[in-house]
Amino acid sequence: MGIVKTGISGLDAMLYGGIPEGNQVVIAGGPGAGKTLICFEILYRNAKMGQPGVYFSLEENPKRVLENAKSTFNELTDIDEMIASKKLIIDGKEPTDKLAAADPSGYEFGKVVSEIEELVSQIGATRVVVDSASILSLLISDQVAYRRSMIEFINDMRRLNVTTLLTMEAATPERSKLEFKPEFFIFDGIISMYQTGEAEKRIRAMEIIKMRGGKHSFVTTPYDITGTGFKVYSAEDASLY
Ligand SMILES: Nc1ncnc2c1ncn2[C@@H]1O[C@H](COP(=O)(O)OP(=O)(O)OP(=O)(O)O)[C@@H](O)[C@H]1O
Ligand SMILES: [Mg+2]
Repeated sequence: MGIVKTGISGLDAMLYGGIPEGNQVVIAGGPGAGKTLICFEILYRNAKMGQPGVYFSLEENPKRVLENAKSTFNELTDIDEMIASKKLIIDGKEPTDKLAAADPSGYEFGKVVSEIEELVSQIGATRVVVDSASILSLLISDQVAYRRSMIEFINDMRRLNVTTLLTMEAATPERSKLEFKPEFFIFDGIISMYQTGEAEKRIRAMEIIKMRGGKHSFVTTPYDITGTGFKVYSAEDASLY
């Protein structure tokens, strides 16, 4: 089993090299934590490293995701070219579709998987982002049925042989109020993003709660979102990775 570098040096240091290949990893965090942007950056950097990726948006319009990423990261000058040359696919379901759909079964887990599968095979993707997976919980109100569907979903992703990042909304940006959802036990890894403090003293920090098959930092580590990408100020020596 290989290691999937995120391409963000401080995060790779926290992961002692990267995410074990094939892992299904949750990126959890409150609103505006940077879940979408960090997944985007990791997917982009992996595509640059020769690993094609699919970004599947279930919440935001995929065009907007792309525009936002472009306006935040000024390095993304070649992204249209990478999309054209099939190293990246940015796709998904628009929220308007979802609201307009009289029949919510159109958003069943199975259909999401088959759409992702189709895109993965189009470009031979090895990396997938599902943003956000929280929306899937709205499809099934029964907790047991939801959890069973989520297990199936994750097994389907494993069958595709891809390393997946799934964003999930945390109810609170504060670490002290973090709650573990029952479905968190299904995933191979959980990275949690927090905001603490108030107004201009607000600090962003991330923590690796678990990562199956890999050694990782237990330090809650500050990070910034900058025009050149995420800066993660790891306690581990980033120059080693
Ligand atoms: N150029 C930039 N410099 C610094 N911070 C930025 C920049 N562009 C965006 N941000 C920050 O990134 C945040 C948005 O990140 P992102 O969309 O990834 O969050 P998210 O966790 O996906 O949020 P949501 O839960 O709403 O989907 C903004 O709230 C802003 O704080
Ligand atoms: Mg988002």
